[in-house]
Amino acid sequence: MSVRLETKYLAPFVREEEVDFLFPQVEAAHRLLETANGPGSDYVGWLKLPRDYDKSEFARIKNAAAKIAKGSDVLVVIGIGGSYLGARAVIEAVKSAQYNLKPNGRPQIFFAGSSVSGAALNDVLELCEGKDVSVNIISKSGTTTEPAVAFRVFRDWLVAKYGVEGAKERIFATTDGAKGTLKELAGREGYETFVVPDDIGGRYSVLTAVGLLPLAVAGVDIDALMAGAAQAMDALSVCDKTNDCYRWAALRNILYRKGKTVEVLACYEPDFALMNEWYKQLFGESEGKDQKGIFPASVVFTTDLHSMGQYLQDGRRQLFETVVDVKNPRSDRVIEPAAEDFDGLNYLAGKALSDVNRAAMQGTVLAHADGGVPVLVLEVDSLGEHDLGYLIYFMEKACALSGYLLGVNPFNQPGVESYKQNMFALLGKPGYEAQRQQLLGRLATE
Ligand code: PA5
Repeated sequence: MSVRLETKYLAPFVREEEVDFLFPQVEAAHRLLETANGPGSDYVGWLKLPRDYDKSEFARIKNAAAKIAKGSDVLVVIGIGGSYLGARAVIEAVKSAQYNLKPNGRPQIFFAGSSVSGAALNDVLELCEGKDVSVNIISKSGTTTEPAVAFRVFRDWLVAKYGVEGAKERIFATTDGAKGTLKELAGREGYETFVVPDDIGGRYSVLTAVGLLPLAVAGVDIDALMAGAAQAMDALSVCDKTNDCYRWAALRNILYRKGKTVEVLACYEPDFALMNEWYKQLFGESEGKDQKGIFPASVVFTTDLHSMGQYLQDGRRQLFETVVDVKNPRSDRVIEPAAEDFDGLNYLAGKALSDVNRAAMQGTVLAHADGGVPVLVLEVDSLGEHDLGYLIYFMEKACALSGYLLGVNPFNQPGVESYKQNMFALLGKPGYEAQRQQLLGRLATE
């Protein structure tokens, strides 16, 4: 098993019979999910994806990745939210947060279109100067402003450098299989396209072409990633109290009902920092609606013990912690003895940094539990492809189940639309004239 839930630090906060009381609701949520009868059930394609994924597209992804890797120094991945976070998170977790500084003969992977910052976009363009570049534009809707603007800029850049025909060979579009502006443009221009399946929403899409193409370009073993997810799919398909995914979902919900409204996901490996961001999107967009939901926060320890440590130990007690305990880090280093113990660190000589990190983790878990923070631990064998595939599926399923336990639709994101409507109106998009007048009036007076 690649992910195990350790609950021994939870004893002062939750009794086992509380899980028993909730279990009928867990079973009901499980049935809703597995029979696709719950709210948002049009979007549960991720549930069987590790088994049912499109094998011929998977082969095409590998071929496209090989082509990109052969002819490019850089792949620019353009996307936002679910169309960006998963790929970046997995590259950093599996390869390194420093991947672009040591890509080991593979293309560097830069991300663009995840903001509307001109400075951020200019930086990526500057980094591409003098290099051979391919672009993967990813947008399910094909109309999201941030990636659409960035793509307009990069498309012009590619055409200026390679000509219209050359640019076509370097643009790969991942979008809806049938409709949308990007799909139409790709058809007209002749870009190779990959599909975001209809029944999979952005934040559940990392194991589709959305994540898989950039991952394959970075040399991530996507077969192993899918195999790990498939193992999780089998292992987590039975609804009983040994299902750690369901236990985590249930315990989160029990803690939420006791006023623990913030979950802090903590990991002691900096390579996990973007997985933290992926988790925040997954759970935040899935649970935060109808004026309900656990607020997902994250930290990387021990780094953030020197910034957030005080609050976590001693601040307002509305939070609980889920620690991702990576048992086998990607690499390690033993601390050598020093002549004359000039820095007083010889008591650490012969220990690996992973031993020191583990002591920090154990000490922190105990201190936080003593400080009134319920702590759950997800033990993960490694951040290798197989184990990460398992963890991704584990979190997706826990998230869907958590949403149903909370009584919300975990697959929509109606709240994300509000800012877009206002932004379109303020920018003068045709069709938004009345809203524009109203907003301008409010901005002048409020
Ligand atoms: O999870 C989601 O659905 C969102 O975060 C989307 O992925 C994000 O808004 C980007 O949408 P699109 O892929 O349509 O450009």
